[in-house]
Amino acid sequence: MGLKSMKLIQIVGARPQFIKYFPLQKVLEKEDSIKDILVHTGQHYDYQMSEVFFKQLGIKKPDYHLEVGSATQGVQTAKIIEKVEKVIIEEKPDFVIVYGDTNSTLGGALAAAKLHIPIIHIESGLRSYNKKMPEEINRVLTDHISSILLCPTKNACDNLKKEGFKNIAQKGKLISLDYKINNTEITSDNPLVMNTGDIMYDAVILSLKAAKNHSTILKKLNIEPKTYSFMTLHRAENTDDLERLKEMINFVVTHSKTKEIYFPVHPRTAKIIKSQKIELPEKIKPLEPLDYFDTLTMLNNALELFTDSGGMQKEAYWLKVPTITLRDETEWIETVKSGWNVLYKDYNGSHKLKKQLPCFGDGKTAERIKKVLKNVEGDK
Ligand code: UD1
Repeated sequence: MGLKSMKLIQIVGARPQFIKYFPLQKVLEKEDSIKDILVHTGQHYDYQMSEVFFKQLGIKKPDYHLEVGSATQGVQTAKIIEKVEKVIIEEKPDFVIVYGDTNSTLGGALAAAKLHIPIIHIESGLRSYNKKMPEEINRVLTDHISSILLCPTKNACDNLKKEGFKNIAQKGKLISLDYKINNTEITSDNPLVMNTGDIMYDAVILSLKAAKNHSTILKKLNIEPKTYSFMTLHRAENTDDLERLKEMINFVVTHSKTKEIYFPVHPRTAKIIKSQKIELPEKIKPLEPLDYFDTLTMLNNALELFTDSGGMQKEAYWLKVPTITLRDETEWIETVKSGWNVLYKDYNGSHKLKKQLPCFGDGKTAERIKKVLKNVEGDK
Protein backbone atom coordinates (compact mmCIF):
# COMPACT_ATOMS: atom_id res chain seq x y z
CA MET A 1 0.00 0.00 0.00
CA GLY A 2 1.63 3.22 -1.13
CA LEU A 3 0.98 6.91 -0.94
CA LYS A 4 -1.30 8.00 -3.80
CA SER A 5 1.20 10.60 -4.85
CA MET A 6 4.57 11.33 -3.40
CA LYS A 7 6.76 14.38 -3.17
CA LEU A 8 10.47 13.72 -2.90
CA ILE A 9 13.37 16.01 -2.30
CA GLN A 10 16.63 14.56 -3.60
CA ILE A 11 19.86 16.17 -2.44
CA VAL A 12 23.06 16.10 -4.47
CA GLY A 13 26.14 18.29 -4.30
CA ALA A 14 29.34 16.43 -5.14
CA ARG A 15 30.49 14.82 -8.38
CA PRO A 16 29.74 11.15 -7.55
CA GLN A 17 26.23 12.11 -6.44
CA PHE A 18 25.34 13.45 -9.89
CA ILE A 19 26.35 10.08 -11.34
CA LYS A 20 24.28 8.18 -8.74
CA TYR A 21 21.24 10.40 -9.24
CA PHE A 22 20.98 10.05 -13.01
CA PRO A 23 19.76 6.40 -13.27
CA LEU A 24 17.05 7.17 -10.71
CA GLN A 25 15.94 10.30 -12.53
CA LYS A 26 15.58 8.19 -15.66
CA VAL A 27 13.10 5.80 -14.03
CA LEU A 28 11.26 8.41 -11.96
CA GLU A 29 10.59 10.82 -14.82
CA LYS A 30 8.13 8.27 -16.22
CA GLU A 31 6.14 8.21 -12.96
CA ASP A 32 3.38 10.81 -12.80
CA SER A 33 2.62 9.97 -9.18
CA ILE A 34 6.11 10.90 -7.97
CA LYS A 35 7.19 14.53 -7.83
CA ASP A 36 10.98 14.65 -7.78
CA ILE A 37 12.44 17.93 -6.52
CA LEU A 38 16.18 18.18 -7.11
CA VAL A 39 18.37 20.20 -4.75
CA HIS A 40 22.02 20.91 -5.67
CA THR A 41 23.86 22.11 -2.57
CA GLY A 42 26.68 23.65 -4.63
CA GLN A 43 29.39 21.69 -2.75
CA HIS A 44 31.01 21.18 -6.15
CA TYR A 45 30.79 24.17 -8.46
CA ASP A 46 33.58 24.13 -11.09
CA TYR A 47 32.23 23.41 -14.58
CA GLN A 48 34.24 20.17 -14.85
CA MET A 49 33.14 19.05 -11.34
CA SER A 50 29.44 19.74 -11.77
CA GLU A 51 27.77 21.19 -14.85
CA VAL A 52 29.49 18.92 -17.34
CA PHE A 53 27.84 15.91 -15.62
CA PHE A 54 24.40 17.51 -15.80
CA LYS A 55 24.86 18.16 -19.52
CA GLN A 56 26.39 14.83 -20.42
CA LEU A 57 24.02 12.64 -18.40
CA GLY A 58 20.88 14.64 -19.21
CA ILE A 59 20.24 15.53 -15.58
CA LYS A 60 17.48 18.08 -15.19
CA LYS A 61 18.22 21.60 -13.99
CA PRO A 62 18.09 21.56 -10.17
CA ASP A 63 14.89 23.02 -8.73
CA TYR A 64 17.04 24.63 -6.04
CA HIS A 65 20.73 25.54 -6.24
CA LEU A 66 22.02 26.42 -2.78
CA GLU A 67 25.48 27.69 -3.81
CA VAL A 68 27.14 26.56 -0.63
CA GLY A 69 30.64 26.30 -2.15
CA SER A 70 33.85 25.27 -0.39
CA ALA A 71 34.55 25.86 3.31
CA THR A 72 35.84 23.99 6.34
CA GLN A 73 34.00 20.79 7.27
CA GLY A 74 31.91 22.51 9.93
CA VAL A 75 31.03 25.62 7.96
CA GLN A 76 30.17 23.71 4.78
CA THR A 77 27.96 21.21 6.63
CA ALA A 78 26.29 23.98 8.64
CA LYS A 79 25.50 26.01 5.53
CA ILE A 80 23.98 22.93 3.91
CA ILE A 81 21.77 22.27 6.97
CA GLU A 82 20.61 25.87 7.08
CA LYS A 83 19.76 26.09 3.39
CA VAL A 84 18.24 22.63 2.98
CA GLU A 85 16.04 23.27 6.03
CA LYS A 86 14.47 26.25 4.25
CA VAL A 87 13.72 24.18 1.15
CA ILE A 88 12.15 21.40 3.22
CA ILE A 89 9.95 23.86 5.12
CA GLU A 90 8.85 25.38 1.81
CA GLU A 91 8.22 22.13 -0.04
CA LYS A 92 6.99 19.81 2.75
CA PRO A 93 8.16 16.60 1.04
CA ASP A 94 7.08 13.08 2.00
CA PHE A 95 10.68 11.86 1.85
CA VAL A 96 14.18 13.24 1.49
CA ILE A 97 16.69 11.14 -0.46
CA VAL A 98 20.42 11.51 0.19
CA TYR A 99 23.32 9.69 -1.48
CA GLY A 100 26.65 8.37 -0.24
CA ASP A 101 28.84 10.01 2.36
CA THR A 102 29.65 13.62 1.56
CA ASN A 103 28.95 16.73 3.60
CA SER A 104 25.90 17.26 1.38
CA THR A 105 24.63 13.83 2.51
CA LEU A 106 24.94 14.56 6.23
CA GLY A 107 23.84 18.20 6.01
CA GLY A 108 20.73 17.25 4.04
CA ALA A 109 19.94 14.33 6.34
CA LEU A 110 20.28 16.39 9.52
CA ALA A 111 17.97 19.10 8.19
CA ALA A 112 15.37 16.49 7.25
CA ALA A 113 15.59 14.50 10.48
CA LYS A 114 15.03 17.56 12.67
CA LEU A 115 11.94 18.41 10.66
CA HIS A 116 10.72 14.79 11.03
CA ILE A 117 10.85 14.08 7.33
CA PRO A 118 11.79 10.42 6.74
CA ILE A 119 15.14 9.96 5.02
CA ILE A 120 16.02 7.43 2.36
CA HIS A 121 19.77 6.85 2.26
CA ILE A 122 21.14 5.43 -0.98
CA GLU A 123 24.51 3.68 -0.55
CA SER A 124 23.87 2.91 3.06
CA GLY A 125 25.81 0.59 5.38
CA LEU A 126 29.34 1.14 4.11
CA ARG A 127 32.05 1.29 6.73
CA SER A 128 35.79 1.90 6.68
CA TYR A 129 35.91 1.88 10.50
CA ASN A 130 38.22 4.89 10.28
CA LYS A 131 36.62 7.92 11.90
CA LYS A 132 39.46 10.16 10.77
CA MET A 133 37.71 10.21 7.38
CA PRO A 134 34.97 12.85 7.19
CA GLU A 135 33.09 10.40 4.95
CA GLU A 136 32.93 7.74 7.70
CA ILE A 137 31.39 10.24 10.12
CA ASN A 138 28.93 11.36 7.45
CA ARG A 139 27.79 7.86 6.57
CA VAL A 140 27.48 6.50 10.12
CA LEU A 141 25.44 9.49 11.30
CA THR A 142 23.25 9.55 8.20
CA ASP A 143 22.46 5.84 8.53
CA HIS A 144 21.40 6.27 12.13
CA ILE A 145 18.81 8.96 11.35
CA SER A 146 17.45 7.36 8.18
CA SER A 147 14.13 5.52 7.85
CA ILE A 148 14.92 3.51 4.71
CA LEU A 149 18.50 2.35 4.29
CA LEU A 150 19.26 1.14 0.78
CA CYS A 151 22.45 -0.90 0.75
CA PRO A 152 24.52 -1.65 -2.36
CA THR A 153 25.72 -5.06 -1.08
CA LYS A 154 24.91 -7.79 1.43
CA ASN A 155 28.02 -6.86 3.36
CA ALA A 156 26.64 -3.33 3.86
CA CYS A 157 23.43 -4.85 5.29
CA ASP A 158 25.53 -7.04 7.59
CA ASN A 159 27.42 -3.96 8.83
CA LEU A 160 24.11 -2.36 9.77
CA LYS A 161 22.97 -5.53 11.52
CA LYS A 162 26.10 -5.34 13.69
CA GLU A 163 25.08 -1.79 14.64
CA GLY A 164 21.68 -2.95 15.87
CA PHE A 165 19.43 -2.59 12.82
CA LYS A 166 16.84 -5.37 13.01
CA ASN A 167 14.42 -4.83 10.17
CA ILE A 168 16.49 -6.25 7.29
CA ALA A 169 14.57 -7.29 4.18
CA GLN A 170 15.27 -10.79 2.82
CA LYS A 171 18.21 -11.24 5.24
CA GLY A 172 20.31 -8.74 3.28
CA LYS A 173 20.10 -10.58 -0.03
CA LEU A 174 19.44 -8.51 -3.14
CA ILE A 175 15.70 -7.88 -2.91
CA SER A 176 13.63 -9.44 -5.64
CA LEU A 177 12.22 -7.04 -8.22
CA ASP A 178 8.67 -7.79 -7.08
CA TYR A 179 9.48 -7.46 -3.36
CA LYS A 180 6.55 -6.00 -1.47
CA ILE A 181 7.15 -3.99 1.65
CA ASN A 182 5.11 -5.81 4.22
CA ASN A 183 2.85 -2.91 5.14
CA THR A 184 5.21 -2.30 8.04
CA GLU A 185 5.19 1.20 9.44
CA ILE A 186 8.61 2.46 8.63
CA THR A 187 9.87 5.20 10.87
CA SER A 188 13.25 6.49 11.92
CA ASP A 189 12.71 4.46 15.12
CA ASN A 190 11.95 1.32 13.12
CA PRO A 191 14.05 1.73 10.02
CA LEU A 192 14.01 -0.69 7.11
CA VAL A 193 17.27 -1.97 5.61
CA MET A 194 17.26 -3.38 2.08
CA ASN A 195 19.87 -4.54 -0.40
CA THR A 196 18.87 -2.88 -3.66
CA GLY A 197 22.25 -3.33 -5.39
CA ASP A 198 24.63 -0.57 -6.39
CA ILE A 199 23.19 2.32 -8.38
CA MET A 200 26.64 3.12 -9.77
CA TYR A 201 26.47 -0.20 -11.58
CA ASP A 202 23.31 1.04 -13.32
CA ALA A 203 25.19 4.23 -14.22
CA VAL A 204 28.10 2.33 -15.76
CA ILE A 205 25.83 0.03 -17.76
CA LEU A 206 23.76 2.98 -19.00
CA SER A 207 26.83 5.01 -20.00
CA LEU A 208 29.38 2.60 -21.41
CA LYS A 209 28.00 2.55 -24.93
CA ALA A 210 27.68 6.35 -25.04
CA ALA A 211 31.23 6.63 -23.72
CA LYS A 212 32.45 4.31 -26.49
CA ASN A 213 30.58 6.34 -29.10
CA HIS A 214 31.33 9.85 -27.90
CA SER A 215 34.62 9.96 -26.02
CA THR A 216 37.65 10.97 -28.07
CA ILE A 217 40.04 11.14 -25.14
CA LEU A 218 42.38 8.33 -26.29
CA LYS A 219 42.78 10.02 -29.65
CA LYS A 220 43.29 13.43 -28.05
CA LEU A 221 46.04 12.06 -25.81
CA ASN A 222 47.37 9.88 -28.61
CA ILE A 223 47.45 6.71 -26.51
CA GLU A 224 46.73 3.06 -27.23
CA PRO A 225 44.49 0.84 -25.06
CA LYS A 226 46.22 -1.08 -22.26
CA THR A 227 49.53 0.75 -22.59
CA TYR A 228 49.08 3.22 -19.74
CA SER A 229 48.07 3.43 -16.07
CA PHE A 230 45.28 5.59 -14.73
CA MET A 231 45.41 7.36 -11.38
CA THR A 232 43.23 9.54 -9.12
CA LEU A 233 44.06 10.98 -5.70
CA HIS A 234 41.87 13.44 -3.82
CA ARG A 235 40.93 12.19 -0.35
CA ALA A 236 41.66 14.58 2.49
CA GLU A 237 43.53 11.78 4.32
CA ASN A 238 46.00 11.62 1.38
CA THR A 239 46.19 15.22 0.23
CA ASP A 240 46.19 17.19 3.46
CA ASP A 241 49.33 15.54 4.84
CA LEU A 242 52.26 16.57 2.64
CA GLU A 243 54.44 13.56 3.51
CA ARG A 244 51.59 11.19 2.82
CA LEU A 245 50.84 12.86 -0.51
CA LYS A 246 54.48 12.51 -1.59
CA GLU A 247 54.52 8.89 -0.38
CA MET A 248 51.49 8.09 -2.55
CA ILE A 249 52.95 9.76 -5.64
CA ASN A 250 56.23 7.88 -5.19
CA PHE A 251 54.39 4.64 -4.62
CA VAL A 252 52.49 4.96 -7.90
CA VAL A 253 55.62 5.83 -9.88
CA THR A 254 57.58 2.93 -8.38
CA HIS A 255 54.84 0.33 -8.83
CA SER A 256 53.22 1.21 -12.14
CA LYS A 257 53.73 -1.35 -14.88
CA THR A 258 53.60 1.23 -17.66
CA LYS A 259 55.67 4.17 -18.87
CA GLU A 260 52.84 6.68 -18.57
CA ILE A 261 50.39 7.32 -15.75
CA TYR A 262 47.46 9.59 -16.63
CA PHE A 263 46.18 11.57 -13.66
CA PRO A 264 43.07 13.78 -13.82
CA VAL A 265 43.72 16.07 -10.88
CA HIS A 266 40.89 16.98 -8.46
CA PRO A 267 40.92 20.72 -7.64
CA ARG A 268 41.72 19.98 -3.98
CA THR A 269 44.88 18.08 -5.02
CA ALA A 270 45.76 20.63 -7.72
CA LYS A 271 45.70 23.46 -5.19
CA ILE A 272 48.00 21.58 -2.81
CA ILE A 273 50.43 20.55 -5.56
CA LYS A 274 50.64 24.19 -6.61
CA SER A 275 50.89 25.78 -3.17
CA GLN A 276 53.45 23.23 -1.94
CA LYS A 277 55.41 23.41 -5.21
CA ILE A 278 55.35 19.62 -5.62
CA GLU A 279 57.01 18.56 -8.87
CA LEU A 280 55.23 15.58 -10.37
CA PRO A 281 57.61 12.93 -11.74
CA GLU A 282 57.93 12.81 -15.54
CA LYS A 283 55.98 9.52 -15.75
CA ILE A 284 52.86 11.14 -14.31
CA LYS A 285 50.82 13.06 -16.86
CA PRO A 286 48.42 15.44 -15.11
CA LEU A 287 45.05 16.21 -16.74
CA GLU A 288 42.16 18.54 -15.91
CA PRO A 289 39.22 16.75 -14.17
CA LEU A 290 37.47 14.59 -16.77
CA ASP A 291 33.79 14.24 -17.59
CA TYR A 292 32.06 10.89 -17.02
CA PHE A 293 32.40 9.43 -20.52
CA ASP A 294 36.09 10.31 -20.72
CA THR A 295 36.67 8.88 -17.26
CA LEU A 296 34.97 5.60 -18.17
CA THR A 297 36.94 5.45 -21.43
CA MET A 298 40.28 6.13 -19.77
CA LEU A 299 39.51 3.56 -17.09
CA ASN A 300 38.17 0.88 -19.44
CA ASN A 301 41.33 1.08 -21.54
CA ALA A 302 43.86 1.36 -18.72
CA LEU A 303 46.19 -1.49 -17.85
CA GLU A 304 45.76 -0.75 -14.15
CA LEU A 305 44.24 1.81 -11.81
CA PHE A 306 45.75 3.55 -8.78
CA THR A 307 43.05 5.37 -6.80
CA ASP A 308 41.72 6.55 -3.47
CA SER A 309 38.22 7.08 -4.88
CA GLY A 310 35.41 4.85 -3.64
CA GLY A 311 33.44 4.86 -6.87
CA MET A 312 36.36 4.13 -9.12
CA GLN A 313 37.33 0.99 -7.19
CA LYS A 314 33.97 -0.45 -8.24
CA GLU A 315 33.95 0.95 -11.76
CA ALA A 316 37.36 -0.65 -12.30
CA TYR A 317 36.04 -3.93 -10.91
CA TRP A 318 33.08 -3.95 -13.30
CA LEU A 319 35.33 -3.04 -16.21
CA LYS A 320 37.87 -5.68 -15.10
CA VAL A 321 40.78 -3.32 -14.58
CA PRO A 322 43.14 -4.43 -11.76
CA THR A 323 43.25 -1.77 -9.05
CA ILE A 324 45.64 -0.68 -6.34
CA THR A 325 43.79 1.39 -3.72
CA LEU A 326 45.80 4.22 -2.20
CA ARG A 327 44.25 3.92 1.24
CA ASP A 328 44.83 1.95 4.44
CA GLU A 329 41.40 0.32 4.26
CA THR A 330 38.42 0.21 1.92
CA GLU A 331 34.67 -0.02 2.31
CA TRP A 332 34.49 -2.07 -0.89
CA ILE A 333 35.86 -5.30 0.55
CA GLU A 334 34.16 -7.39 -2.15
CA THR A 335 36.60 -5.99 -4.72
CA VAL A 336 39.54 -6.94 -2.50
CA LYS A 337 38.23 -10.45 -1.74
CA SER A 338 37.92 -11.10 -5.47
CA GLY A 339 41.57 -10.21 -6.01
CA TRP A 340 40.84 -7.36 -8.45
CA ASN A 341 41.66 -4.67 -5.89
CA VAL A 342 44.64 -4.63 -3.52
CA LEU A 343 45.38 -2.07 -0.79
CA TYR A 344 48.66 -0.34 -1.58
CA LYS A 345 50.34 -1.57 1.61
CA ASP A 346 49.52 -5.20 0.64
CA TYR A 347 50.59 -4.85 -2.98
CA ASN A 348 53.50 -7.02 -4.08
CA GLY A 349 53.40 -6.25 -7.77
CA SER A 350 50.64 -8.58 -8.89
CA HIS A 351 46.95 -9.34 -8.51
CA LYS A 352 45.53 -12.80 -7.81
CA LEU A 353 42.47 -12.43 -9.99
CA LYS A 354 39.46 -14.60 -9.14
CA LYS A 355 36.11 -15.03 -10.84
CA GLN A 356 33.89 -12.03 -10.14
CA LEU A 357 30.71 -12.67 -8.16
CA PRO A 358 27.57 -10.58 -8.75
CA CYS A 359 27.83 -8.91 -5.34
CA PHE A 360 26.74 -5.42 -6.47
CA GLY A 361 23.36 -6.46 -7.85
CA ASP A 362 22.24 -6.69 -11.44
CA GLY A 363 22.25 -3.10 -12.70
CA LYS A 364 18.53 -2.71 -11.95
CA THR A 365 18.95 -0.78 -8.72
CA ALA A 366 17.08 2.32 -9.90
CA GLU A 367 14.11 0.15 -10.84
CA ARG A 368 14.15 -1.47 -7.37
CA ILE A 369 14.32 1.92 -5.65
CA LYS A 370 11.37 3.14 -7.71
CA LYS A 371 9.38 0.09 -6.57
CA VAL A 372 10.31 0.75 -2.96
CA LEU A 373 9.05 4.32 -3.35
CA LYS A 374 5.81 3.19 -4.92
CA ASN A 375 5.25 0.65 -2.14
CA VAL A 376 6.17 2.53 0.88
CA GLU A 377 4.03 4.33 3.40
CA GLY A 378 5.71 7.24 5.12
CA ASP A 379 5.47 7.98 8.82
CA LYS A 380 3.51 11.17 8.33
C1 UD1 B 1 34.01 15.43 -1.56
C2 UD1 B 1 33.61 14.32 -0.59
C3 UD1 B 1 34.32 13.03 -0.97
C4 UD1 B 1 34.09 12.68 -2.42
C5 UD1 B 1 34.47 13.86 -3.30
C6 UD1 B 1 34.20 13.58 -4.74
C7 UD1 B 1 33.17 15.26 1.64
C8 UD1 B 1 33.64 15.32 3.04
N1 UD1 B 1 33.99 14.65 0.79
O1 UD1 B 1 35.39 15.64 -1.38
O2 UD1 B 1 33.82 11.98 -0.17
O3 UD1 B 1 34.87 11.56 -2.76
O4 UD1 B 1 33.71 15.01 -2.89
O5 UD1 B 1 34.87 14.48 -5.56
O6 UD1 B 1 32.09 15.72 1.35
N2 UD1 B 1 37.09 22.42 -5.03
C9 UD1 B 1 37.15 23.23 -6.13
N3 UD1 B 1 36.09 23.19 -7.00
C10 UD1 B 1 35.00 22.41 -6.82
C11 UD1 B 1 34.96 21.60 -5.67
C12 UD1 B 1 36.02 21.60 -4.80
O7 UD1 B 1 38.10 23.96 -6.35
O8 UD1 B 1 34.09 22.43 -7.66
C13 UD1 B 1 38.26 22.40 -4.09
C14 UD1 B 1 38.18 23.45 -3.03
O9 UD1 B 1 39.47 23.87 -2.75
C15 UD1 B 1 37.67 22.67 -1.83
C16 UD1 B 1 38.31 21.32 -2.04
O10 UD1 B 1 38.33 21.15 -3.45
O11 UD1 B 1 38.00 23.26 -0.63
C17 UD1 B 1 37.57 20.18 -1.40
O12 UD1 B 1 36.23 20.14 -1.86
P1 UD1 B 1 35.07 19.50 -0.93
O13 UD1 B 1 33.77 19.58 -1.62
O14 UD1 B 1 35.17 20.07 0.44
O15 UD1 B 1 35.51 18.00 -0.79
P2 UD1 B 1 36.08 16.98 -1.87
O16 UD1 B 1 37.53 16.83 -1.61
O17 UD1 B 1 35.67 17.30 -3.25
